[in-house]
Amino acid sequence: MEENTRTFSAVRNVIFSVHKNMDVEDKVAFYNEWAGNYNEDVHILDYRAPMLAARSLSAAFPRDREGALVLDVACGTGLVSAQLQELGFRHFVGVDGSSAMLEVAEKTGLYRELKCCILGKETLPVEAGSCDIVIIVGALSVGHVAVTVLKELWQAAKPGGYVCMTTRADAQNLEYKSQLDCTVAEMEREGLWTRVDVVEEEEWERAVSNDETGYISGVVYLYKKSSGQAPVV
Ligand SMILES: C[S@@+](CC[C@H](N)C(=O)[O-])C[C@H]1O[C@@H](n2cnc3c(N)ncnc32)[C@H](O)[C@@H]1O
Repeated sequence: MEENTRTFSAVRNVIFSVHKNMDVEDKVAFYNEWAGNYNEDVHILDYRAPMLAARSLSAAFPRDREGALVLDVACGTGLVSAQLQELGFRHFVGVDGSSAMLEVAEKTGLYRELKCCILGKETLPVEAGSCDIVIIVGALSVGHVAVTVLKELWQAAKPGGYVCMTTRADAQNLEYKSQLDCTVAEMEREGLWTRVDVVEEEEWERAVSNDETGYISGVVYLYKKSSGQAPVV
């Protein structure tokens, strides 16, 4: 009989390896390998980020959900759009650097379009000012997507549109998180967006490092793109 390796311990080893600093090609190769087990593994990890981000966005989104275009950046296998669909959103475009993750996302039937793009190296393949919502969950963290991508996320949103981002608040990610906090605040000072909500969630996902027990925390950032004349970035 085939041994079931999808235990917490197996997932812990996977997460340890992904949090290490790798270059972007290695990171994408890692996700190509992980794609087949990703959904099962993050379920074991009790990875709550897609649900927490979707709820936060949904609570603030006042308009017609069925008509809203959602850009799901670093969409992976589609967990974020699946949560948003349950909350009444219907139109999703997904972007990710891993072709294997995109293949799993394709099978969900949720997306009207899926695009392969290595963020930070290639320009986000979306028309400026075209999306009602831009959401990125689980990818703004050390060794993943560089903070410099925030301007591209902002650019993809319509004036008055929402940008929803998440990051982890565990010890390994604190330096990245502080860069993210600085960039988000700087963009607010520049008048590019205004803060709608920033919530630290205690139970983000189960801790895997030897120094932490229980759950690590994470943060959902929700910003609204300013409606004035958009500065060119
Ligand atoms: C932890 S998964 C999150 C997926 C999904 N958003 C979720 O919450 O389940 C991180 C995703 O980011 C993608 N990714 C990481 N770095 C990337 C980069 N530089 N460009 C594009 N995608 C990247 C990976 O391929 C992976 O699908």
